Amino acid sequence: MILNGNNITKQYTRRGEKFNAVNNADFFAWSGDFTVIFGESGSGKSTLLNALAGVTAPTSGNVELDGQPLFKLNDEELARLRNERIGYIPQNTASLSAFTVAENITLTSTLYNKKIDKEHIKALLNKLGIAHLANEHPQNLSGGELRRVAIARALANKPDLIIADEPTSNLDEENSRKVYSLFARLARTGVAVVIATHDKNAFGYSNRVYHMKSGSLVPDIGEYGNL
Ligand SMILES: Nc1ncnc2c1ncn2[C@@H]1O[C@H](COP(=O)(O)OP(=O)(O)OP(=O)(O)O)[C@@H](O)[C@H]1O
Ligand SMILES: [Mg+2]
Repeated sequence: MILNGNNITKQYTRRGEKFNAVNNADFFAWSGDFTVIFGESGSGKSTLLNALAGVTAPTSGNVELDGQPLFKLNDEELARLRNERIGYIPQNTASLSAFTVAENITLTSTLYNKKIDKEHIKALLNKLGIAHLANEHPQNLSGGELRRVAIARALANKPDLIIADEPTSNLDEENSRKVYSLFARLARTGVAVVIATHDKNAFGYSNRVYHMKSGSLVPDIGEYGNL
């Protein structure tokens, strides 16, 4: 098992009232799994993904990557681990406007003094249909193009866990298919893919489905089943 979330609860306070945006969620994924978390707006998907990706510590509960509890690491260790292992595509991603698309994609590798695999990045841009935009600046791109830049950036370091929050929001059907095909191909090479989405097309690519309802995470045992 690559990713294991146990009893994850995230409590927020709104207008003086405490509530659990995520309530005692248990989640796991194996290498090679393509997992979809489906749930209506406000059900807690992004809050859960933030915990699973090591971005925001839950109020209680544990997240382990290959048995290593993420939130026991210090900030620097966690940042390094996330950079090396986890490709996270948040729901709202910002690109840095002072840099080109290509520079945005390789920025974290540059920061960590990592060798940049140019062929890999070129192939990624091609698969996502944004190769012609490599030298553009983000402010000149459409919402859907920016979404694909965020995906390329998350995959640039060849992570073995991909966590993507609504990766196909802003994308038309053809480009959504490109993104799912890319994720599915990576899953076949042993990468664990976890996505939250409203897009029912994602189900056709997944082998594990969860539903999120009012903070509770329920494994799907229905039509698509959990293999
Ligand atoms: N920082 C915060 N402080 C207080 N409440 C929050 C905070 N972030 C999210 N919430 C609330 O927690 C609940 C879950 O939010 P979350 O963003 O996880 O939902 P979601 O399932 O991702 O929704 P969407 O499909 O619209 O992206 C919502 O009621 C939201 O308003
Ligand atoms: Mg969300």
